[in-house]
Amino acid sequence: LRAKYLEQIGAAADAGALEAVRLAALGKKGEVALKMRELGQMSAEERQVAGPVLNGLKSEIDAALKARKAALDDAALDARLKTEWLDVTLPGRPRPMGTIHPISQVMEELTAIFADMGFAVAEGPQVESDWFNFDALNIAPEHPARQEHDTFFMHRAEDDARPPHVLRTHTSPVQIRAMQGQGAPIRVIAPGRVYRMDMDQTHTPMFHQVEGLAIDRDINMAQLKWVLEEFCRAFFELDEVELRFRASHFPFTEPSAEVDIRCSWDNGQLKLGEGNDWLEILGSGMVHPNVLRAGGIDPDEWQGFAFGMGIDRIAMLKYGIPDLRAFFESDLRWLRHYGFAA
Ligand code: PHE
Repeated sequence: LRAKYLEQIGAAADAGALEAVRLAALGKKGEVALKMRELGQMSAEERQVAGPVLNGLKSEIDAALKARKAALDDAALDARLKTEWLDVTLPGRPRPMGTIHPISQVMEELTAIFADMGFAVAEGPQVESDWFNFDALNIAPEHPARQEHDTFFMHRAEDDARPPHVLRTHTSPVQIRAMQGQGAPIRVIAPGRVYRMDMDQTHTPMFHQVEGLAIDRDINMAQLKWVLEEFCRAFFELDEVELRFRASHFPFTEPSAEVDIRCSWDNGQLKLGEGNDWLEILGSGMVHPNVLRAGGIDPDEWQGFAFGMGIDRIAMLKYGIPDLRAFFESDLRWLRHYGFAA
């Protein structure tokens, strides 16, 4: 019995085979157990001889099982160590990292610059009521400016009682929301998305503007000029800027001015701040009394300036990005090239 089981234990190739041997020898119905049961039928003298022999056999088999189990575990571990090794000297695999989109970057830059001049950020919805986008800004229903804006209209059932809505064509409706929401005095900018039905190298149906609005008892155009010059100096990182105010017309400002920045074109290379050319960068003016009234502000007590600037456009100028459409194509190569480290 002893020789048979010790040999079987030595030959067991894995934990399963070893367990089978254990059951055959020491299990409830195993051979050694059966022999132990026979002790009951023996005489006292016989039992005194056979008892210790059987117990010795039992512990010997037990010990052999344990030793074999340990040997098998060691071998299994060795095998795993041989196959599952790790070369810690290999270089790490780079994780693909996203970049900050130039528009987001520029929005952060301009928000910080205007914050230094005391402007808070105001917001409004992109799906805007006709009234906020046009009427409140002194653009009457038959005003030609409505056609010029290439508006996206939200379609509604004929019996829908809600007022008509559009995708906002500019950030100027946020002027009205700021006036109604906080009352005078006001110093806010409103960066955000705007929409017009237009598409070519310099136009996309969605683009970005930043609105500026300052209202107080004695706001004037000289302050508008200073704010815009300070902004351009900081944003374009120039020592010298020169802005040209060109008389213009917007229904919501009076007087109105389009603002150009001095620049030069050297072999197709644009340089801001010097030269004999001018580049238009924004529209501005003194807030029209009708607009103040629509915002619930008394034009006899308060006055203000407003401006609206294309964010995509100034981003293209600052970072030398040639085609506006690429901003919104999500081409990874473009994003890696023009994007900013997070
Ligand atoms: N809303 C005008 C536009 O989209 C820009 C503007 C804003 C002009 C504020 C004057 C004052 O063209």
